[in-house]
Amino acid sequence: MEQEQKFTIQIANASHQDFAQIICDEMESSAKARGTGIAKRSPDYIKEKMREGKAVIAFTEDGIWAGFCYIETWSHGEYVANSGLIVAPSFRKSGLAKNIKRKIFDLSQKLYPGAKLFGLTTGLAVMKINSDLGYEPVTYSELTQDEAFWAGCKSCVNYEILMSKERKNCMCTAMLYDPKEHKPKEEAAKDFVQRSKLYERFMKIKQWSLLKNLLRKEKVDMILAELGLTKLAKFKKEKLAK
Ligand SMILES: CC(C)(COP(=O)(O)OP(=O)(O)OC[C@H]1O[C@@H](n2cnc3c(N)ncnc32)[C@H](O)[C@@H]1OP(=O)(O)O)[C@@H](O)C(=O)NCCC(=O)NCCS
Repeated sequence: MEQEQKFTIQIANASHQDFAQIICDEMESSAKARGTGIAKRSPDYIKEKMREGKAVIAFTEDGIWAGFCYIETWSHGEYVANSGLIVAPSFRKSGLAKNIKRKIFDLSQKLYPGAKLFGLTTGLAVMKINSDLGYEPVTYSELTQDEAFWAGCKSCVNYEILMSKERKNCMCTAMLYDPKEHKPKEEAAKDFVQRSKLYERFMKIKQWSLLKNLLRKEKVDMILAELGLTKLAKFKKEKLAK
């Protein structure tokens, strides 16, 4: 019988700096594989987070790097983002991201008591993990308005979309955990389970409607098909044929 893989998840420190490059490489190649955008991070930035004790790193029992996430603060510490969540492909779908997120969530609250925790994501897995922690979907206006945070999006392939929407919307879904007024974790998680199909569809439709303004007509059907919205593609084709 296959043995369940065990991980150690710890607060990163200076001794982990050699892993910064592999972490950055994995972030980039995972984003490419998903065809989504990310705010790019340099190995030096990741090293700094490690030295400051503002990151969480996971290893297998054999010392193989397995996952990572770090803390960023905005609006003078009023807002905290747990960013750059990444799990090495061979260790995915075993609950590791969930455990890393829980650890960095606790660390964030310890380092910045009272701060609002938020995140931007295109991934359903991250939405699920965040909901389990008590995060709720919000509009972009409820996030930090710190220029430095939004400047981080400049390296994302979708930056043009964000700016064309005056920073009010983009491909990512915004989620927030406000320690002063948040639903009990169980309730937020239950809401997500009940609405997950709706969220998935909403994300696809939102991403499609943001994209279509930027695309030439001939690319539109292909994108619709990729998003699984084939009925909409057929409808559009029929409409164009008339
Ligand atoms: C997203 C990512 C971190 C998830 O890591 P993971 O260790 O596989 O996640 P977990 O096993 O902890 O899964 C957490 C939950 O999400 C669900 N999930 C995992 N991958 C999923 C996917 N691709 N689609 C939908 N749900 C998914 C799991 O079923 C689990 O739900 P459960 O609690 O009901 O069982 C990992 O796939 C990754 O590193 N991807 C590339 C980088 C990335 O997308 N980072 C997020 C940037 S915002």
